[in-house]
Amino acid sequence: MFFKTDENHNLPHNPFKACVAPRPIGWVSTVSPTGIGNVAPFSFFNGLAQNPPQLMIAINGGNKHSPTKDTLYNIEKTKEFVVNIATYGLRQEMFDTAAPEHPDTDEAVLAGLEMIDSILIKPKRIQKSPIHMECRLTQIIDLLSDSDDEKNTAIFGHVVGIHIHDDVLVEGKVDLKKVNPISRLGYKDYATLGDIFQLDAPWRKG
Ligand SMILES: Cc1cc2nc3c(=O)[nH]c(=O)nc-3n(C[C@H](O)[C@H](O)[C@H](O)COP(=O)(O)O)c2cc1C
Repeated sequence: MFFKTDENHNLPHNPFKACVAPRPIGWVSTVSPTGIGNVAPFSFFNGLAQNPPQLMIAINGGNKHSPTKDTLYNIEKTKEFVVNIATYGLRQEMFDTAAPEHPDTDEAVLAGLEMIDSILIKPKRIQKSPIHMECRLTQIIDLLSDSDDEKNTAIFGHVVGIHIHDDVLVEGKVDLKKVNPISRLGYKDYATLGDIFQLDAPWRKG
């Protein structure tokens, strides 16, 4: 099939997110200018560069309390955020923190998550997540939006510090089977890692 994205696709659900999958889940912790913590998952998320390490998340629309999601508001104001990696063991807590709570509510408390101090920035980290990346905002870019009420925004961050739990490090490498990250697919679907295999580049040999 083919459809123009500004016309009806005649499918029961929009297939776009299933076409760009799996997407890692950046579980973002921020703090408001008045000190209220906030945690929410974002699957429009990825790494962008290694030297220096940079990543992005994209925020779509708002919620019933505000046209701007708390994560975007907090990052705009404080210029800092932590990306924690969502794991299979924490899938329910991750999902609970996606609830459209009032800005005065800290979703970490609702989800029973222990938060611990970061080293370089103010927002706290999710203790049980095995990987935390402390980020400083570099750019915010307005994306195309179908309506003024549903703004789409890309947030770019410089990863200034990375925490890795010692128990997922094996011989100096991050063991992703131990991390067991989850990813978002389309619809209500999620996935864990399948088989891990290696490709050896012949142009790097010899
Ligand atoms: C697995 C998962 C991935 C999500 N990815 C995104 C995303 O990429 N962008 C977005 O705007 N919302 C995404 N959401 C929804 C937000 O987490 C949700 O709107 C949340 O309430 C925002 O919280 P905040 O207002 O505290 O920032 C996702 C939800 C789930 C469960």
